Amino acid sequence: MTKSEPLGRLRLGVNIDHVATVRNARGGPYPDPVRAARLAETAGADGITAHLREDRRHITDADIEALSKGIEIPLNLEMAATDEMQAIALRHKPHAVCLVPERRQERTTEGGLEVARDENRLAHFIAPLRDAGCRVSIFIAADRRQIEAAHRIGAPVIELHTGAYCEHDIAGDVAARDAECERLREMAQFAHELGLEVHAGHGLTFENVKPIAAFPEVMELNIGHFLVGEAIFSGLDSSIRRMRSLMDEARREAFGEGVA
Ligand code: PXP
Repeated sequence: MTKSEPLGRLRLGVNIDHVATVRNARGGPYPDPVRAARLAETAGADGITAHLREDRRHITDADIEALSKGIEIPLNLEMAATDEMQAIALRHKPHAVCLVPERRQERTTEGGLEVARDENRLAHFIAPLRDAGCRVSIFIAADRRQIEAAHRIGAPVIELHTGAYCEHDIAGDVAARDAECERLREMAQFAHELGLEVHAGHGLTFENVKPIAAFPEVMELNIGHFLVGEAIFSGLDSSIRRMRSLMDEARREAFGEGVA
Protein backbone atom coordinates (compact mmCIF):
# COMPACT_ATOMS: atom_id res chain seq x y z
CA MET A 1 0.00 0.00 0.00
CA THR A 2 1.26 3.47 -0.83
CA LYS A 3 0.98 6.34 1.63
CA SER A 4 -1.59 7.96 -0.64
CA GLU A 5 -4.21 5.29 -0.01
CA PRO A 6 -6.42 5.44 3.06
CA LEU A 7 -6.35 2.44 5.37
CA GLY A 8 -10.10 2.17 5.38
CA ARG A 9 -13.36 4.04 5.54
CA LEU A 10 -13.22 6.99 7.90
CA ARG A 11 -15.81 6.55 10.66
CA LEU A 12 -17.63 9.39 12.39
CA GLY A 13 -18.28 9.07 16.10
CA VAL A 14 -20.78 11.67 17.28
CA ASN A 15 -20.24 12.90 20.83
CA ILE A 16 -23.56 13.73 22.49
CA ASP A 17 -22.25 15.11 25.81
CA HIS A 18 -23.52 18.60 25.14
CA VAL A 19 -27.07 17.50 24.50
CA ALA A 20 -26.88 16.45 28.15
CA THR A 21 -25.29 19.80 29.05
CA VAL A 22 -28.37 21.60 27.71
CA ARG A 23 -30.69 19.17 29.46
CA ASN A 24 -28.86 19.57 32.77
CA ALA A 25 -29.14 23.36 32.59
CA ARG A 26 -32.73 22.85 33.77
CA GLY A 27 -32.50 19.45 35.39
CA GLY A 28 -35.41 17.98 33.45
CA PRO A 29 -35.57 15.08 30.96
CA TYR A 30 -35.05 16.98 27.70
CA PRO A 31 -33.30 17.24 25.32
CA ASP A 32 -32.75 13.49 25.60
CA PRO A 33 -29.23 12.29 24.66
CA VAL A 34 -30.60 8.90 23.56
CA ARG A 35 -32.96 10.60 21.13
CA ALA A 36 -29.98 12.59 19.81
CA ALA A 37 -27.96 9.38 19.48
CA ARG A 38 -30.72 7.70 17.49
CA LEU A 39 -31.01 10.72 15.24
CA ALA A 40 -27.22 10.74 14.80
CA GLU A 41 -27.43 7.13 13.70
CA THR A 42 -29.96 7.92 10.95
CA ALA A 43 -27.86 10.95 9.91
CA GLY A 44 -24.87 8.69 9.25
CA ALA A 45 -22.92 8.44 12.52
CA ASP A 46 -20.92 5.23 12.80
CA GLY A 47 -20.82 5.38 16.57
CA ILE A 48 -21.87 7.40 19.60
CA THR A 49 -19.35 8.81 22.04
CA ALA A 50 -20.21 9.86 25.58
CA HIS A 51 -17.92 11.06 28.37
CA LEU A 52 -19.00 10.07 31.85
CA ARG A 53 -17.10 12.62 33.89
CA GLU A 54 -16.30 12.17 37.55
CA ASP A 55 -18.51 15.18 38.41
CA ARG A 56 -21.35 14.02 36.06
CA ARG A 57 -21.61 17.54 34.67
CA HIS A 58 -23.26 16.32 31.46
CA ILE A 59 -23.62 12.57 30.83
CA THR A 60 -24.96 10.64 33.83
CA ASP A 61 -24.84 6.99 34.85
CA ALA A 62 -28.47 6.68 33.75
CA ASP A 63 -27.53 8.02 30.30
CA ILE A 64 -24.85 5.36 29.90
CA GLU A 65 -27.36 2.72 30.92
CA ALA A 66 -29.96 4.08 28.46
CA LEU A 67 -27.42 4.43 25.63
CA SER A 68 -26.15 0.88 26.21
CA LYS A 69 -29.66 -0.43 25.71
CA GLY A 70 -31.10 2.13 23.30
CA ILE A 71 -28.78 2.41 20.30
CA GLU A 72 -27.78 0.03 17.54
CA ILE A 73 -24.41 1.55 16.63
CA PRO A 74 -21.32 1.12 18.82
CA LEU A 75 -20.98 3.12 22.03
CA ASN A 76 -17.60 4.65 22.83
CA LEU A 77 -17.40 5.44 26.56
CA GLU A 78 -14.89 8.14 27.38
CA MET A 79 -13.71 8.06 30.96
CA ALA A 80 -10.88 8.73 33.36
CA ALA A 81 -8.68 5.81 34.42
CA THR A 82 -10.22 5.43 37.88
CA ASP A 83 -11.51 2.36 39.71
CA GLU A 84 -15.04 3.78 39.73
CA MET A 85 -15.07 4.20 35.94
CA GLN A 86 -13.47 0.84 35.34
CA ALA A 87 -16.27 -0.84 37.32
CA ILE A 88 -18.91 1.03 35.30
CA ALA A 89 -17.25 0.07 32.00
CA LEU A 90 -17.01 -3.57 33.07
CA ARG A 91 -20.70 -3.52 33.98
CA HIS A 92 -21.86 -2.14 30.62
CA LYS A 93 -19.10 -3.52 28.39
CA PRO A 94 -19.41 -0.82 25.72
CA HIS A 95 -17.95 -1.49 22.29
CA ALA A 96 -15.13 0.93 23.07
CA VAL A 97 -13.54 2.70 26.02
CA CYS A 98 -11.43 5.79 25.50
CA LEU A 99 -9.25 6.82 28.43
CA VAL A 100 -8.96 10.55 28.90
CA PRO A 101 -7.27 12.72 31.53
CA GLU A 102 -9.68 14.55 33.76
CA ARG A 103 -9.42 17.47 36.10
CA ARG A 104 -12.49 18.79 37.86
CA GLN A 105 -11.70 22.44 37.31
CA GLU A 106 -11.16 22.15 33.54
CA ARG A 107 -13.86 23.23 31.12
CA THR A 108 -13.09 20.40 28.71
CA THR A 109 -10.42 17.74 28.29
CA GLU A 110 -7.42 20.02 28.04
CA GLY A 111 -4.54 17.72 27.27
CA GLY A 112 -3.78 14.15 26.39
CA LEU A 113 -3.31 11.37 28.91
CA GLU A 114 0.16 11.17 30.46
CA VAL A 115 0.80 7.53 29.61
CA ALA A 116 4.57 7.52 29.73
CA ARG A 117 4.71 8.40 33.46
CA ASP A 118 1.93 5.99 34.43
CA GLU A 119 2.68 2.97 32.28
CA ASN A 120 2.53 0.24 34.85
CA ARG A 121 -0.76 1.32 36.38
CA LEU A 122 -2.39 1.90 32.99
CA ALA A 123 -1.24 -1.48 31.64
CA HIS A 124 -3.01 -3.12 34.60
CA PHE A 125 -5.98 -0.81 34.23
CA ILE A 126 -6.72 -1.67 30.60
CA ALA A 127 -6.14 -5.43 30.84
CA PRO A 128 -9.59 -6.33 32.29
CA LEU A 129 -11.30 -3.95 29.86
CA ARG A 130 -9.62 -5.68 26.95
CA ASP A 131 -10.47 -9.08 28.43
CA ALA A 132 -14.11 -7.95 28.59
CA GLY A 133 -14.00 -7.26 24.84
CA CYS A 134 -13.87 -3.46 24.95
CA ARG A 135 -11.71 -1.79 22.31
CA VAL A 136 -9.47 0.40 24.44
CA SER A 137 -8.14 3.66 23.10
CA ILE A 138 -5.97 6.26 24.77
CA PHE A 139 -6.48 9.96 24.16
CA ILE A 140 -3.02 11.48 23.78
CA ALA A 141 -1.17 14.47 22.45
CA ALA A 142 0.71 14.08 19.17
CA ASP A 143 3.84 13.16 21.06
CA ARG A 144 6.15 10.28 20.12
CA ARG A 145 6.91 9.41 23.75
CA GLN A 146 3.22 9.05 24.63
CA ILE A 147 2.49 7.03 21.50
CA GLU A 148 5.31 4.62 22.28
CA ALA A 149 4.05 4.27 25.85
CA ALA A 150 0.47 3.60 24.64
CA HIS A 151 1.86 0.88 22.42
CA ARG A 152 3.92 -0.64 25.25
CA ILE A 153 0.93 -0.90 27.60
CA GLY A 154 -0.99 -2.87 24.98
CA ALA A 155 -3.59 -0.32 23.87
CA PRO A 156 -4.78 -1.23 20.36
CA VAL A 157 -5.96 2.31 19.53
CA ILE A 158 -4.85 5.89 20.16
CA GLU A 159 -6.92 9.01 19.65
CA LEU A 160 -4.82 12.04 18.77
CA HIS A 161 -5.86 15.24 20.52
CA THR A 162 -6.64 17.84 17.84
CA GLY A 163 -7.45 20.59 20.37
CA ALA A 164 -4.27 22.63 19.85
CA TYR A 165 -4.68 22.49 16.05
CA CYS A 166 -8.28 23.74 16.39
CA GLU A 167 -7.38 26.49 18.84
CA HIS A 168 -4.70 27.86 16.50
CA ASP A 169 -7.26 27.72 13.70
CA ILE A 170 -9.82 29.73 15.68
CA ALA A 171 -7.13 32.24 16.72
CA GLY A 172 -6.22 32.69 13.04
CA ASP A 173 -2.61 31.65 13.68
CA VAL A 174 -2.10 29.87 10.39
CA ALA A 175 1.58 29.07 10.90
CA ALA A 176 0.95 27.45 14.30
CA ARG A 177 -2.12 25.61 12.98
CA ASP A 178 -0.21 24.21 10.03
CA ALA A 179 2.74 23.21 12.20
CA GLU A 180 0.40 21.34 14.56
CA CYS A 181 -1.35 19.73 11.60
CA GLU A 182 2.01 18.50 10.34
CA ARG A 183 2.88 17.14 13.77
CA LEU A 184 -0.46 15.30 13.89
CA ARG A 185 0.17 13.90 10.40
CA GLU A 186 3.63 12.61 11.33
CA MET A 187 2.42 11.12 14.60
CA ALA A 188 -0.55 9.42 12.90
CA GLN A 189 1.92 7.79 10.55
CA PHE A 190 4.28 6.88 13.38
CA ALA A 191 1.50 5.30 15.45
CA HIS A 192 0.26 3.33 12.47
CA GLU A 193 3.77 2.01 11.84
CA LEU A 194 3.82 0.74 15.43
CA GLY A 195 0.61 -1.18 14.65
CA LEU A 196 -1.80 1.12 16.47
CA GLU A 197 -5.20 2.09 15.06
CA VAL A 198 -5.38 5.88 14.89
CA HIS A 199 -8.36 8.07 15.73
CA ALA A 200 -8.51 11.84 16.20
CA GLY A 201 -10.77 14.41 17.75
CA HIS A 202 -11.48 17.44 19.92
CA GLY A 203 -12.56 20.85 18.70
CA LEU A 204 -13.18 19.83 15.08
CA THR A 205 -15.52 22.01 12.99
CA PHE A 206 -16.71 22.28 9.38
CA GLU A 207 -13.82 24.70 8.82
CA ASN A 208 -10.95 22.60 10.13
CA VAL A 209 -11.99 18.96 9.72
CA LYS A 210 -10.76 18.31 6.19
CA PRO A 211 -6.97 18.31 6.68
CA ILE A 212 -7.35 15.81 9.54
CA ALA A 213 -9.87 13.68 7.62
CA ALA A 214 -7.33 13.43 4.81
CA PHE A 215 -4.72 11.60 6.91
CA PRO A 216 -4.69 8.07 5.43
CA GLU A 217 -3.99 6.45 8.81
CA VAL A 218 -6.96 8.00 10.62
CA MET A 219 -9.85 5.56 10.92
CA GLU A 220 -12.25 7.51 13.14
CA LEU A 221 -13.02 11.09 14.12
CA ASN A 222 -14.95 11.86 17.30
CA ILE A 223 -16.80 15.15 17.10
CA GLY A 224 -19.35 16.67 19.44
CA HIS A 225 -19.43 20.24 20.70
CA PHE A 226 -19.46 21.92 17.30
CA LEU A 227 -22.14 19.56 15.92
CA VAL A 228 -24.46 20.17 18.86
CA GLY A 229 -23.86 23.92 18.65
CA GLU A 230 -24.48 23.97 14.91
CA ALA A 231 -27.70 22.03 15.48
CA ILE A 232 -29.16 25.20 17.02
CA PHE A 233 -29.05 26.77 13.57
CA SER A 234 -29.55 23.89 11.16
CA GLY A 235 -30.73 20.92 13.21
CA LEU A 236 -28.68 17.94 14.38
CA ASP A 237 -29.45 15.83 11.33
CA SER A 238 -28.19 18.52 8.98
CA SER A 239 -25.06 19.32 11.02
CA ILE A 240 -24.04 15.64 11.14
CA ARG A 241 -24.76 15.09 7.43
CA ARG A 242 -22.67 18.13 6.51
CA MET A 243 -19.77 16.92 8.66
CA ARG A 244 -20.00 13.48 7.07
CA SER A 245 -19.99 14.96 3.60
CA LEU A 246 -16.95 17.16 4.37
CA MET A 247 -15.09 14.10 5.66
CA ASP A 248 -15.97 12.21 2.46
CA GLU A 249 -14.96 15.19 0.35
CA ALA A 250 -11.58 15.35 2.12
CA ARG A 251 -10.99 11.65 1.42
CA ARG A 252 -11.98 12.03 -2.25
CA GLU A 253 -9.75 15.08 -2.68
CA ALA A 254 -6.81 13.27 -1.08
CA PHE A 255 -7.25 9.80 -2.57
CA GLY A 256 -9.52 10.11 -5.59
CA GLU A 257 -13.12 9.29 -6.45
CA GLY A 258 -14.61 6.12 -5.07
CA VAL A 259 -12.74 6.48 -1.77
CA ALA A 260 -14.47 7.62 1.40
N1 PXP B 1 -12.45 12.88 21.65
C1 PXP B 1 -12.21 12.94 22.99
C2 PXP B 1 -11.30 11.93 23.57
C3 PXP B 1 -12.86 13.89 23.79
O1 PXP B 1 -12.62 13.93 25.13
C4 PXP B 1 -13.78 14.77 23.20
C5 PXP B 1 -14.52 15.75 24.05
O2 PXP B 1 -15.31 15.08 24.96
C6 PXP B 1 -14.00 14.67 21.82
C7 PXP B 1 -13.30 13.74 21.07
C8 PXP B 1 -14.96 15.58 21.12
O3 PXP B 1 -14.52 16.88 21.20
P1 PXP B 1 -15.51 18.05 20.75
O4 PXP B 1 -16.71 17.96 21.63
O5 PXP B 1 -14.69 19.27 20.98
O6 PXP B 1 -15.83 17.81 19.30
